Amino acid sequence: EKSGFPHFMLKEIHEQPQTILDTMRGRYSYETGEADLPDIGLTPKEFAAVDRIWIVACGTSWHAGLVGKYLFEDMVRTPVQVDIGSEFRYRDPLVGKRDLFLTISQSGETADTLAAAREAKQKGARVVSIVNVVGSTLARESDGVLYTHCGPEIGVASTKAFTAQLTALYLMALHLARVRNVMKEADGKAWLDRLVRLPVLVESVLRREAEIVAIAKRYYKKRNFLFLGRGINYPIALEGSLKLKEISYIHAEGYAAGEMKHGPIALIDRDMPVVVLAPRDRLYEKTVSNLMEVKARHAPVIALVAEGERELGKTADAVFTIPETHPLISPILFTIPLQLLAYHIAVLRGADVDQPRNLAKSVTVE
Ligand code: M6R
Repeated sequence: EKSGFPHFMLKEIHEQPQTILDTMRGRYSYETGEADLPDIGLTPKEFAAVDRIWIVACGTSWHAGLVGKYLFEDMVRTPVQVDIGSEFRYRDPLVGKRDLFLTISQSGETADTLAAAREAKQKGARVVSIVNVVGSTLARESDGVLYTHCGPEIGVASTKAFTAQLTALYLMALHLARVRNVMKEADGKAWLDRLVRLPVLVESVLRREAEIVAIAKRYYKKRNFLFLGRGINYPIALEGSLKLKEISYIHAEGYAAGEMKHGPIALIDRDMPVVVLAPRDRLYEKTVSNLMEVKARHAPVIALVAEGERELGKTADAVFTIPETHPLISPILFTIPLQLLAYHIAVLRGADVDQPRNLAKSVTVE
């Protein structure tokens, strides 16, 4: 059932053009520039009345939630608070009746996420969940569900579920922006245009896997990695680092690029590769200057840059180009090479990619 792939993880990475499509299928209307989410559990009027959004999840799903914060605050202009399940549930959180409480979970069985949802419900919030497993506990207990429809994910390291969660968040952001009247019909249509083009762009990145294999071969023996990102791609730096550490057992840290000078720069030397996510957005110049600081300390730099980029290409030791898209959509495209990098480094180190030590696919204990 691995369809000719050596591991489930690699198969699932390659399924992403299809699974992103499956998550979108039948859920939007070009005529109106709107997302059509019938099972979401709140009427447009109820959505319009929401004061604040909470997003609670664990692990990779929490990283999707962090992307959701940048997305919703930008597109819906509503404050978003993101929490880790185990942090939220034990602090008597200040959730109100006019709050929308969103949980994200591949399995729908993660104990801390489930407990957080129960807590929020008890406090009167409406609970909506983005879940992959149909009929899971979280799906059953939520007021509304947005299924990711990406099929069973077998690899312990979450890959296709993550990009499907991001896709679901893109649809939900569109839905909220339209019902709250902060996005015009024409802009809704333009947003949908970008979304439907995503699978083809993901496919084009996957076709360049050999470039990532070459980078993996250069750096797989290193003991520490740093991942830097800014804005909506900061959570992707966290995700790239989590993928690498869980399957290759290399110590890796993800940081907001602007935080580097507040401590982690002390670690940087020629033995610590730094993966820099550098989309061409309004933060680009700042990312370039972070990279210069890294280079000045002789660390090998692996730069993920927008197509047509020259400046960074000359400075970095290894470069991978990402197709141009809207900055808010770029996280999916930056995720793919990081998944492949973690995978190939782990394979080169002889690690058991699908069954990493000490980890379970579904964490049903706290
Ligand atoms: O099933 P969930 O999405 O609720 O799982 C959350 C985390 O346990 C999960 O994302 C974990 O971090 C993965 N090993 C990441 O690859």
